[in-house]
Amino acid sequence: MFETIPAAAPDPILGLQATFKADPRAGKVNLAIGVYCDAQGKTLSLKAVVEAEKRLLEKHPGHGYLPIEGLAEYGAVVREMLFGAGHPLVKDGRAITAQCPGGTGALRVTADLLGTHRKGATVWISDPTWPNHFGIFQGAGLATKTYRYFDAASNSLNLAAMLEDLKALKPGDAVLLHGCCHNPTGVDPTAAQWKQIAEAVKAAGALPIVDFAYQGFGDGLEEDAAGLRIILGICPEVIVCSSFSKNFGLYGERAGAMTLVAANADIANTALTQVRMAVRTNYSNPPAHGARVVAMVLSNPELKQMWQDELKQMCGRIFGVRKALRQALDQRGVKLHKDGNAFIETQRGMFTMSGLTKAQVERLQKEYGIFIVGSGRINVAGITDAVLVPVADAIAAVVK
Ligand code: LMR
Repeated sequence: MFETIPAAAPDPILGLQATFKADPRAGKVNLAIGVYCDAQGKTLSLKAVVEAEKRLLEKHPGHGYLPIEGLAEYGAVVREMLFGAGHPLVKDGRAITAQCPGGTGALRVTADLLGTHRKGATVWISDPTWPNHFGIFQGAGLATKTYRYFDAASNSLNLAAMLEDLKALKPGDAVLLHGCCHNPTGVDPTAAQWKQIAEAVKAAGALPIVDFAYQGFGDGLEEDAAGLRIILGICPEVIVCSSFSKNFGLYGERAGAMTLVAANADIANTALTQVRMAVRTNYSNPPAHGARVVAMVLSNPELKQMWQDELKQMCGRIFGVRKALRQALDQRGVKLHKDGNAFIETQRGMFTMSGLTKAQVERLQKEYGIFIVGSGRINVAGITDAVLVPVADAIAAVVK
């Protein structure tokens, strides 16, 4: 039975994580996986999360099953974060939410829904993207194609090419957009560009799927939702796959959500019955703990404020690291791009698309024990005070 199963290639991100763990070198540095750590290198438990966990432990909610679509109060706070308080589409019942195991779980539930009910649809994915996107949609039987997004020569969004490619979308296709902090490039559309993108998707009769894993890691919680809200103003149907892994530091708790916006409440509620089917046949019902924590924090003004302050601190540190890395490279006479290193500061989110070649990435790992993703993506949120200088020195050495 198993002899004929061929070996799969290691995952480009989680596979590196395993190689990193197994590496015996003392000074090794992991800048591959998107996990935030503080200046001392600790992966944080946010104070608001710890406080919510204490309160949860006291009232001990037990270990029973959640409903298939998860906690209702979690769905409510998710929708408020995505759409803003009191958004008419929520009042009109046009949005339903399924609590899912992480953003990946939300994407897979979306893929299963489309794979069952939109057979033959193509899902259009940005080039480049988070590598797992392809497998998630193909695994549900859907075809995938890419649209041009990033222009490496100018280190910016290639809007003209993107809009040109979106013209090839057919009615019933879906297009996967990164809501903010594009992974891996850190390059996001402006409000005016979002409008053009949303109009192109609408004109094609395609469904926008917004992967929204980094809300709050760009310019702020509300600011980062601007693109999504522009899409909602233009496209009548949208799916949002969101996650609290990063902004709550709840990586292992798998607190994500799939929110489906339909043209009216009846359609949304009917779609929910099929979303339930996708969940039930996949993992039955979602894990409880992370969602309970998020629901408690976001529905308690004092905890919510505490969390927002901590999120701002995390972002502040990331901006600081971007600046320090740029300066350190400038000082060493390293130019990662023909126009200099300013892009490191203008890109948003946890990552910078460094422009390092595959060979340079390999040398960083082999000779210096510095692990970054093969595409040249560096997790700047993983650069601590102690490793900034060795990382800059190593980059200088492999570039020169
Ligand atoms: C990343 O891109 O590093 C994160 O989203 C973690 C993951 O699951 O790949």
